[in-house]
Amino acid sequence: MSKPSVLVSRRLPAAVEAKLSDGYDVVFNRNDRPMSADQFRDALANFDAVVPTGTDRIDARAFDVPRLRTRIIANYGVGFSHIDLACTERQAITVTNTPDVLSECTADLAMMMMLMVARRAGDGERELRAGAWDGGRPTHLVGTKVSGKVLGIVGFGRIGQEMARRAHFGFGMEIVVYNRSRVPEEVLARFGARQAESLDALLPQCDFVSLHCPGGPENRHLMNGVRLSLMKPDAYLINTARGEVVNETALAQALMFDTIGGAALDVFEREPAIDPMLAQCDNLVMLPHLGSATRETREAMGMRVIENLDAFFRGEMPRDLVAGPGPKLHVLPRIV
Ligand code: DGY
Repeated sequence: MSKPSVLVSRRLPAAVEAKLSDGYDVVFNRNDRPMSADQFRDALANFDAVVPTGTDRIDARAFDVPRLRTRIIANYGVGFSHIDLACTERQAITVTNTPDVLSECTADLAMMMMLMVARRAGDGERELRAGAWDGGRPTHLVGTKVSGKVLGIVGFGRIGQEMARRAHFGFGMEIVVYNRSRVPEEVLARFGARQAESLDALLPQCDFVSLHCPGGPENRHLMNGVRLSLMKPDAYLINTARGEVVNETALAQALMFDTIGGAALDVFEREPAIDPMLAQCDNLVMLPHLGSATRETREAMGMRVIENLDAFFRGEMPRDLVAGPGPKLHVLPRIV
């Protein structure tokens, strides 16, 4: 029996590519550049499965195909706001993601960025590399203490909870949470956390605010000018979630006029483009979307993609179903 065909949009860790090639008839995008809408249209017309990543845009243009072949989009990554779910729903395409395996590493990075901006690690590194360090002095690059401060966590899913664990048990921070639904008391109790009634109620209480909510239209510009003005004037904002959650123009203004203490961003509204106003802000730490970028996690994400594909093509419901009917409507090309 022929193997299902799979298009993979970016290079993946070698072990993942090898395992995927064992079970499937795979085409890799060898040049590792982002694929265009036309290329995705082609992929959806010609492959049984497509494996995209968060750097792709799979919007309505990609689904404008007379005879669509793809039955499953097995995303490599937990976020899926780059996939038009209204279109996948209409075309009965199953969508999966890779949760859990990246929660720890993303929280590690958020913690690191919080420390970096508070302790002025970016300023210090820039100074050293520019050969501008003329020795220590009591007033040199003085930052803000992190231990024991109040951390607001926006979105208390898996990554938010890992962030709470690190901040509370590692740094003695007091945790306040904003989450759309009510968080069970026993979950809050694990981290000595309390839940704020609203985001507006949370912001003025926090020394640090770390975003861990999903992206997508419902959270677009959740942190806008008004919300930034609710933060304490010396508080810090950390975003390792999705770029669209923060209005970058409003953030650049807040940083330039020092209405907040600083910010750290691992994600941006128009990746890989960086708003030139942000690049001018010294009280900002920026990283190029490294949340899940460890060998262990990037491999585990790939293995989770394969698990989802294997289940789907065996006729079972994939473990990480995001949307769609699962395998039940399809003629399955292969049993794994
Ligand atoms: C994710 O998994 O969504 C991370 O942001 C990596 O893209």
